[in-house]
Amino acid sequence: MKKILLTGGLGFFCTRFTQKYQHTFQILSTDKDDLDITNESSVTETFKMFKPDYVIHAAAIAVTDFCNDHPELAYKINVQGALNVAKACKAVGAKMVFISTEQVFNGNPEPGPYTEDVTPIPDTIYGQNKLEAEHLLQDLIEDLWILRFTWLFGLPERDCNINPNILWNTLNLALEGKKTKITTHEYRGLTYVHEIIDQFHKIFTLPYGLYHIGSHNNDSRYHISEYILSSLGLNDRIHDLIEKDETKFKEHPRDVRLNTGKIRSYGFDFSDTKVAIDKCIQEFHFNMR
Ligand SMILES: NC(=O)c1ccc[n+]([C@@H]2O[C@H](COP(=O)([O-])OP(=O)(O)OC[C@H]3O[C@@H](n4cnc5c(N)ncnc54)[C@H](OP(=O)(O)O)[C@@H]3O)[C@@H](O)[C@H]2O)c1
Repeated sequence: MKKILLTGGLGFFCTRFTQKYQHTFQILSTDKDDLDITNESSVTETFKMFKPDYVIHAAAIAVTDFCNDHPELAYKINVQGALNVAKACKAVGAKMVFISTEQVFNGNPEPGPYTEDVTPIPDTIYGQNKLEAEHLLQDLIEDLWILRFTWLFGLPERDCNINPNILWNTLNLALEGKKTKITTHEYRGLTYVHEIIDQFHKIFTLPYGLYHIGSHNNDSRYHISEYILSSLGLNDRIHDLIEKDETKFKEHPRDVRLNTGKIRSYGFDFSDTKVAIDKCIQEFHFNMR
């Protein structure tokens, strides 16, 4: 059985990954309490003891505002931590998966969807950290897959972490009943977390390199929220719960969508966002009608 070491093992992505693959791979799931990635010697020691075949480096501070407010801490974890993990991969001959983000494109003047060939211009600390880490890792190791994720969504599950995401956030709006403004000028790929996890074992068969990964979506954030409320059976409450914010991002619409043609050409498949939302709601038998 191949061995996989996870960093950020208690997070949204890795808790679901471990549930899916715990009988397929020998998994060592680590997080900051047992393996702080900023502690280089601990990282090296743990890797030497476990001798992973693959490392999925998911640990990060991924909250944009927090990173902007704490740039030194964000750099230490998102850049230096990633470098520590990559050095340890090199020392033990492990193949590394680095999870990056669509947010590397949030300062690009031209709209998405972006291919892997487009030069990113990040305008947040989080986006800058991820891009710098991508470059440092590419310089250091060859056995490296960099996956730029779109924004993942999912619902709470037993023994799994939940993060703010478009579906859970919208559901919470319905539960709280407080009317909220949502921008009509933001476009993002929105991907059901299990659609990535279910295909993740195939990542290890890809040529090394950079891949954009996730669903395609042509609708604004407002329109997706509207669609979610409708899919949840809350058509009659839509206008009590959300209203269009037509001023935010009006001058420069925010479009960080990714072109995922490259990874699709290797047999990966993702539903369009609306289909994926319905799939998730159906899988959880969730309907508020
Ligand atoms: N979820 C998305 O929509 C999305 C989209 C694009 C890219 N990504 C990337 O995908 C990866 C996984 O995302 P996720 O949503 O699963 O994130 P997450 O839930 O925030 O998980 C990250 C984990 O890393 C831990 N961590 C923080 N500092 C650490 C340190 N010094 N040492 C070890 N672990 C540390 C966090 O602990 P604490 O929570 O206690 O800080 C958390 O458990 C991240 O790299 C993220 O940037 C995610």
